[in-house]
Amino acid sequence: MRALVWHGKEDIRCDTVSDPEIEHPRDAIIKVTSCAICGSDLHLFHNFIPAMKPGDIMGHEMMGEVVETGSEINGALKKGDRIVVPFTITCGECDQCKRGNFSVCERSNRKKDLGDKAFGHTTAGLFGYTHLTGGYPGGQAEYLRVPFADKTHIKVPDSLTDEQVLFLGDIFPTGWQAAAQCDIEPTDTVVVWGCGPVGQMTIRSAVLLGAKQVVAIDCIAERLSMAEAGGAITINFMDESVVERLNELTGGKGPEKCIDAVGLESHVSMSQPDTLLDRAKQMVMLESDRPHVLREMIYVCRPAGIISIPGVYSGLIDKLPMGMAMNKGLSFRMGQTHVKRWTDDLLRRIEEGQIDPSFVITHTVGLEEGPEMYKVFRDKQDSCIKVVLKP
Ligand SMILES: NC(=O)c1ccc[n+]([C@@H]2O[C@H](COP(=O)([O-])OP(=O)(O)OC[C@H]3O[C@@H](n4cnc5c(N)ncnc54)[C@H](O)[C@@H]3O)[C@@H](O)[C@H]2O)c1
Ligand SMILES: [Zn+2]
Ligand SMILES: [Zn+2]
Repeated sequence: MRALVWHGKEDIRCDTVSDPEIEHPRDAIIKVTSCAICGSDLHLFHNFIPAMKPGDIMGHEMMGEVVETGSEINGALKKGDRIVVPFTITCGECDQCKRGNFSVCERSNRKKDLGDKAFGHTTAGLFGYTHLTGGYPGGQAEYLRVPFADKTHIKVPDSLTDEQVLFLGDIFPTGWQAAAQCDIEPTDTVVVWGCGPVGQMTIRSAVLLGAKQVVAIDCIAERLSMAEAGGAITINFMDESVVERLNELTGGKGPEKCIDAVGLESHVSMSQPDTLLDRAKQMVMLESDRPHVLREMIYVCRPAGIISIPGVYSGLIDKLPMGMAMNKGLSFRMGQTHVKRWTDDLLRRIEEGQIDPSFVITHTVGLEEGPEMYKVFRDKQDSCIKVVLKP
């Protein structure tokens, strides 16, 4: 089959690889009908997350049709079913899965020892996302093996298009969880740093969850326009002071809820000197991530507020003002998304027309164009916001 394969830093190719096979009785194989490139894939593209190997198949946002099932699927799935695949692989039976903490499933990382060593305790297996989380082949491919498929799937009705439901596997529940873990009150100002696909879903989730006002920050005009269309007040951080504007919008008290939908690759600019320092430290391996947004959120957040972090961080960060966060009494909530915790509710909201997540798609291309589209998405060329691939 054809698949997008990681060969090294900024080197992804569309290669011919072996078709996946059933390896375990709880596996299923799907024929991928649609998949997407996620901001998290860019961190792998730039080789910021350790433990990728040349030959690894990319992709963790995908859906398709079941073409084969293992002997222990026991009627949970059958050939011909149309499913979205959550990017977090979940066994459904361990203590964490029973509590709905699916992204820290204790059993789905087949390289548990690596996870234990890197994080203290293993987290869930993830598709196409390094050997720390299982080294499972991803879904930017014609076919995908889904481990624990009896639990790791979301059945979707034929009445909805691929484009309407594809993002149930990642960015829609990610934006939702980012907003939900802010415990939004009707009097709250919710601020979202980053208007990429995750930021866009977060903005709409915060609006649906009833925030008084939602503020969105980025420096890319078309992403800010899309944020505005979703109900946000926008701030272009290259044109104005984020701190001053947020204080203005909140009567000097600061926003109650701050969400980081940027992650470890915060924009580097002369106007944010700390980002220059982070970049320099990254180059000499003194720091792995650029946490400008975390610093800004801690500074601007109202005392006793909540900091929610869907943005991915990979390792060690420097100069985080912990004293400021402690004395202000801030709460931190973060994590890879517990996808299945949210998807029944979100699928219902799509069916009821409360939201159509396809609004974020700007580019739809064949798999062969995938390698080029990584660059287009990374560089925001051609007003690119979200890429869908059709294998
Ligand atoms: N927690 C999860 O389960 C989960 C799931 C999906 C994605 N993610 C993460 O979410 C993050 C965003 O993903 P995406 O797909 O939207 O990626 P993206 O790269 O398209 O979006 C990031 C946006 O942040 C903006 N930005 C950069 N520096 C900024 C700053 N200082 N202030 C404000 N905005 C700034 C960029 O211009 C860009 O528009 C990534 O880190 C990704 O890995 C996490
Ligand atoms: Zn993702
Ligand atoms: Zn589990």
